[in-house]
Amino acid sequence: MCGPRKLLALTLTALAASAFMLQPAGGAHRPGSRHMLAGDTASQCSSTGYGSRVCSVLHGCTEKATRATPRTASTLANVAQCTQWARARLANVRAAEHFGSEHRPALVMLGDSITEEMAGTRLGLPAARSAGVPEALARALGSSFATLPLGISGDMTQHLLWRLRNGELPAALSARSAPLAVVSLLIGTNNLAYGHAPPDVLLGIEAVASYVLAASRSALLAVNTLLPRADGQIKPRLLQRIARLCPPRCEDDGAPLRSFEPLVAEVNAGMPALVQRLRASHPGRNIRLVNCSSELLLLHGSLGPSPGDERAGARVNVSLVPDLLHPNAAGFERILACQRRVFLAMVAQQH
Ligand SMILES: *[C@@H]1O[C@H](CO)[C@@H](O)[C@H](O)[C@H]1NC(C)=O
Ligand SMILES: *[C@@H]1O[C@H](CO)[C@@H](O)[C@H](O)[C@H]1NC(C)=O
Repeated sequence: MCGPRKLLALTLTALAASAFMLQPAGGAHRPGSRHMLAGDTASQCSSTGYGSRVCSVLHGCTEKATRATPRTASTLANVAQCTQWARARLANVRAAEHFGSEHRPALVMLGDSITEEMAGTRLGLPAARSAGVPEALARALGSSFATLPLGISGDMTQHLLWRLRNGELPAALSARSAPLAVVSLLIGTNNLAYGHAPPDVLLGIEAVASYVLAASRSALLAVNTLLPRADGQIKPRLLQRIARLCPPRCEDDGAPLRSFEPLVAEVNAGMPALVQRLRASHPGRNIRLVNCSSELLLLHGSLGPSPGDERAGARVNVSLVPDLLHPNAAGFERILACQRRVFLAMVAQQH
């Protein structure tokens, strides 16, 4: 029963993916190359098969964390969302094309919905949950940096990699006279929600980071640890997804995971080694690990629930993270103040 249905889902996913790709997934970044036009999106999103699973224990994952792809039927809910994603990423391409840092250093922020909040939108549309966040960004970093947030809600490492290869990395960063620029990377939490295992997520983050380093001449790279999340408490649907991955990823007592927090912690624990590898493979580049995750916790210094805590992940401060995943303006004030210290230190090192 599983076989033919799976095959069908895979075929539809492949169709949706190929319809989306005017350029091959592995294609190099070519400034000025033709981008998907907004008017084309309806026909590119006409396939069916939306909402099929990304990963299962038996069959593996239809999208790989390290392989560039636009969102496919596995990672989109329906045609409307597909169209919205295509528009959101085109808006990012335009913002990247028009981005100029003038006399300040540039700060390009790459990621998912958490980064998109800084633009005040969710999949390109104005979002109530990000009220006050663009203003918080301007207050915290606007006087020191020309900021460009390039996030899209729901994106994973493979989608960000595709976006960067298809027009979102500002051309100025690869120019001979590239301005002083910090690229801040915060991606990977959605991979966990869709079932990618932490070691694969780390490889996905590394793939994006390596691409940024290769495609930019001299950008300084800030790799952020994932923020804590306990949103499975609010959206049991998300917990069903990670429950399917047990085994091998289970609680100590063999039961399915009750929170994303152990998976987030596993990714973050691998980040120092990831940054070491990046430094070794890109000598002379300024690469930093940025760890502002504990800014959103009730008690500083303890990531994740304490042993025996019935409500897993209960330590995320809901007055900073109302849905236990997306920081509000107050949450961003803390995160951005923490990041600002690191970004300024990186820039100071260049002088
Ligand atoms: C949670 O965040 C709010 C807003 O910043 C703060 O006033 C409160 O003290 C925090 N709670 C704890 C227990 O840390
Ligand atoms: C991040 O900071 C927290 C709190 O300071 C610490 O417990 C954790 O080990 C750090 N993680 C990494 C990857 O540096």
